[in-house]
Amino acid sequence: MKTAIFPSILSADFSQLAKEIKEVEPFVDAIHIDVMDGHFVENITIGAPVVKCIRPKTKLLFDVHLMIEHPQKFVQDFLDAGSDCIFFHPKTTANPAKLLKTIQSAGKKAGIAINPNEQWESFEALVKKADKVLMMTVYPGFGGQKFISDVLPCIRNLRRRFPALDIEVDGGVKQGTANLCAEAGANLFVAGAFIFGQKDRKKAIKALEREIK
Ligand code: DX5
Ligand code: ZN
Repeated sequence: MKTAIFPSILSADFSQLAKEIKEVEPFVDAIHIDVMDGHFVENITIGAPVVKCIRPKTKLLFDVHLMIEHPQKFVQDFLDAGSDCIFFHPKTTANPAKLLKTIQSAGKKAGIAINPNEQWESFEALVKKADKVLMMTVYPGFGGQKFISDVLPCIRNLRRRFPALDIEVDGGVKQGTANLCAEAGANLFVAGAFIFGQKDRKKAIKALEREIK
């Protein structure tokens, strides 16, 4: 199963996003973009216009994580802005299956994000339709939070049930937790503070790569 590390630009310097992205570009295939609305989570970040502005600056794929209410209202903007994969939280929209389909019909990957206090089993029908599942290992809203290890058994069960699914982990992923996620069955790894919090981004990415192999 293909493994990959996706740097989350949440911990990058927003005043020089293009430069920050260039620094990780040689070492990864995609960046993770956290979109927050101040309603679903207690923080506000960036919207589709910023995604559109950074799109021509890099060849990396855009893995977009919507932490917003009513994502169905905004998803077209994020598709038009150049997203390659869009995650949303299933309880934020009345018809999550329809939203998965909308994203997939545009030729993009669609995924659901599951919070630490949610059971993926309650979204099993959606998991079957999704291209990827984002297992939150922190409560969404902020970078640099402490990894919640209680999620590991859920990842393990999800992997047992869906051997070929792309399972992505998000939150507190660093040296010492990435290996636990990999052992549990995750194959895609989002890391924000661990990568952009260090001067040497290459070194941080390589350290994570060694852990997940
Ligand atoms: C949390 C975001 C994460 C966050 C991860 O709300 O969804 O993507 O950027 O950041 P770290 O790796 O710093 O926990
Ligand atoms: Zn995220």
